[in-house]
Amino acid sequence: MTTLILPATPDNIILAAETLKKGGLVAFPTETVYGLGADALDAKAAGRIFEAKQRPATDPLIVHLGGVEQVQQVACQISPLAIKLAEAFWPGPLTLIFPKQPAIPEVVTAGLDTVAVRVPSHPVALALISAAGTPVAAPSANRFGRTSPTTAQHVWHDLQGQIDIILDGGPTPVGVESTVLDICVTPPCILRPGGVTREQLEAVIGPVSILTSDVLPEGGLPSPGLLSKHYAPRAELVLFGGTKAMKNLLAHLKAEQSVGKKVGALAVDTDADLLEKNDVLVYRLGTDVESVARNIYAGMRWLDWQGVDVIVCRDLGESGLGLAIRDRLRRAASKIIIT
Ligand code: TXA
Ligand code: MG
Repeated sequence: MTTLILPATPDNIILAAETLKKGGLVAFPTETVYGLGADALDAKAAGRIFEAKQRPATDPLIVHLGGVEQVQQVACQISPLAIKLAEAFWPGPLTLIFPKQPAIPEVVTAGLDTVAVRVPSHPVALALISAAGTPVAAPSANRFGRTSPTTAQHVWHDLQGQIDIILDGGPTPVGVESTVLDICVTPPCILRPGGVTREQLEAVIGPVSILTSDVLPEGGLPSPGLLSKHYAPRAELVLFGGTKAMKNLLAHLKAEQSVGKKVGALAVDTDADLLEKNDVLVYRLGTDVESVARNIYAGMRWLDWQGVDVIVCRDLGESGLGLAIRDRLRRAASKIIIT
């Protein structure tokens, strides 16, 4: 199949919407990462997403809506809590788990009786979903197990030849995926930290619990896509935390270099100068957590393309977007050193 990569102009958005309606696959920018969309009410089309990504059928998809008013089409039991969250955070990077409507095919929810729903805030995503006139099922538009794409070029690299259209709307502004919040439990539980922070959620609805990647419940995962070792670069990533993080990081990279390994680093600007003096290929992430979130996946891909053997990176704490960044780095890491 030939994949078209098209600038996200109004005409091309209409063409992409027609492709979705015909059962095709369209990658499009959201405010978080690029999504790989199919008509959420078309089981065959949604099934093609799993083939294109080589994603296991046990990993359910998020259903994207063009507006809050469409939520009844896909979900049941829209509670006052859900309405409060939707009013505060939609359109935006929050995914809510609801009991599903029968109209949603089983393939979309991987056989679960719940459905993940969000209204994205990116203007191209909203225009595409509205023009298609149907809810759009979309996981991140990467090959399964790779880091999520934050540019159209990342999507091209992973999925060219497997999908119909890539709408290029430039780099995505948030850079990490949406927060997945299970509101079918009390208190609501963050299944995946993301673009809406824990602090923002708690300011609106009070305490929430968090399912962190290191405290996994026995007897299976409540969110089947939350496999650890996910979002991974090809190189071995080593994550450093605790008060001695920088000291340990420098010692580790010297040890790796001494056995001939090529070392790269993902680093905030304040650490970058010191690392560059140590002969490390540095991808600068910026100064604040917002810019780190925006750049982290592009950095992993770039360092892979440079052929580094090892990527070193420092933990940035858990406040604000730090929690989502920590979660992704933990999943990407082959080794975590905290002292
Ligand atoms: O920001 C995002 O969320 C991006 C953009 C494209 O919207 N999408 C995304 O989709 O990251 P994906 O498929 O890569 O991640 C969806 C996550 C997975 O961890 C999956 O297990 C979880 O949502 N999920 C989907 N349906 C669920 C359900 N019914 N119950 C619990 N978790 C669910
Ligand atoms: Mg994904």
